[in-house]
Amino acid sequence: MRASAVAQPNIALIKYWGKQDVAGNIPAVGSLSITLDSLETRMTVEFDDRLGADELQLNGEPAARMLPRVSHCLDNLLGSKRAPAAIESVCNFPIAAGLASSASAFAALVVAASRAAGKQPDTLSLARAAGQASGSAARSLYGGFVELQLIEEGGSPAIAVESILQENAWPMQVIVAITATGEKPVSSSDAMKLSAKTSPFYASWLEHQDHDLEIARSAVADRDFSALAAISEHNCLKMHSVMWASRPPVVYWNKATLACMETVRGLQADGVPVFFTIDAGPQVKAVCLPDIADRVRKALQETDGVIDTMESSLGGGARLLGMS
Ligand code: PMV
Repeated sequence: MRASAVAQPNIALIKYWGKQDVAGNIPAVGSLSITLDSLETRMTVEFDDRLGADELQLNGEPAARMLPRVSHCLDNLLGSKRAPAAIESVCNFPIAAGLASSASAFAALVVAASRAAGKQPDTLSLARAAGQASGSAARSLYGGFVELQLIEEGGSPAIAVESILQENAWPMQVIVAITATGEKPVSSSDAMKLSAKTSPFYASWLEHQDHDLEIARSAVADRDFSALAAISEHNCLKMHSVMWASRPPVVYWNKATLACMETVRGLQADGVPVFFTIDAGPQVKAVCLPDIADRVRKALQETDGVIDTMESSLGGGARLLGMS
């Protein structure tokens, strides 16, 4: 059986940074994100006993380097006695550059693979399987504004994920300013470990996260853009401060990243409802209300060092495209 699924990346407004259980890949903190619409990964999975081992094609090319993580995710989802899989992934945006390509990839993978194996787990089980591969991927199973919470289950830490507001309930537009196209120098997993071990700010980061989540959750419930903007920028800058104070420092930004932040601040000073957020990479994501998206995009395009911009509204969670 062959199954195809599609998933969109998500952008965290209240960030996940740090793991409490490295083996199970359980985050140290809860997080809150928005799922995008027009950026996407499409995955097709077919299990075939005649294959000697799993095979992965990424945008039409063999992708041996990414295969172990993908195989491991399939083992977690279906058990290691499963048949070998032929996996095809097609992604319409840059990979491993701080644009959450692993989130959309693993979310699409678990949906396609479970259906190709004749199974139909509930969304939370799929989110947990995706989250084991990439913490942020758990959120891409859901659409709109999504919260990931930490819970305890049978004495062990686990995640619970839900959509707290549907994508059409409070439309937003996200403009991504691409400031570099190469792969990031340090993976987020390695950087998180380093932060936990060496950053003097890590304990304080953990301590205040629930408070930030509470403020963001209320801002979403009240559709209060300026409250959401303020807490999102604060939480993002705190995460990067934790990284910068790690030893060796983890700095994902470049000159253009800072220039984009200045552009957003300039727009804010003119009363434009927009805010920025930045993940483990140099790209800047500007979140704004849809009616001023053209102005925000133009301002970012004209910012020194910006290579390209992409734009997306909010979208739904991962979904099956078809089976054959
Ligand atoms: O899902 P990972 O392991 O790539 O970690 C992603 C972490 C951030 O993107 C920086 C923050 C987040 O919550 O998505």
